[in-house]
Amino acid sequence: MPHAGAPGAPDARPPQIAPVRLRVNGADHALSLDIRTSLLDALREHLRLTGSKKGCDHGQCGACTVLLDGRRINSCLTLAVMVDGAEVTTIEGLGEPARLHPMQAAFLHHDGFQCGYCTPGQICSAVGMLEELKAGAPSHVTEDLQAPAPASDAEIRERMSGNICRCAAYPNILAAIRDAGGLA
Ligand code: FES
Ligand code: FES
Repeated sequence: MPHAGAPGAPDARPPQIAPVRLRVNGADHALSLDIRTSLLDALREHLRLTGSKKGCDHGQCGACTVLLDGRRINSCLTLAVMVDGAEVTTIEGLGEPARLHPMQAAFLHHDGFQCGYCTPGQICSAVGMLEELKAGAPSHVTEDLQAPAPASDAEIRERMSGNICRCAAYPNILAAIRDAGGLA
């Protein structure tokens, strides 16, 4: 059995707990969290907001995408203590069944999903991406950095490339984003 401190040995130290304040979908929360808790786990396990999905937990699939102070992030790669005091919007906060966000309505209209597992992340990411487009932020495929972003299909695909859809609903996701963003 490995001795304490050796590789593979259980860490006998008690977890370090820290206070974390978050404003999530307009509601204030004061949490006490193990400092290793990701924002995704804080949302799902502590606040019971399970709309944000855990696909890979490694920043590779985008299923956990939420908006942090209006910008899209992978919540699995973000420690909750890093964003103390921040404003978080999850898929639950974008709209409700009776009052859908235009991006949610467009995904429904264009059938932008099959199993739906990636969909909350796709929608949050698309909302954040449209703001980046509006702000003129260039992407990897933007040809003219002085006049960025006529929203070609290639631009949108590149900007959404961090959100994987294993059902490959990409054509319909693209159509939904063009529709909701007035880019059609
Ligand atoms: S769960 Fe966060 S990127 Fe996959
Ligand atoms: S709809 Fe199934 S993974 Fe995207």
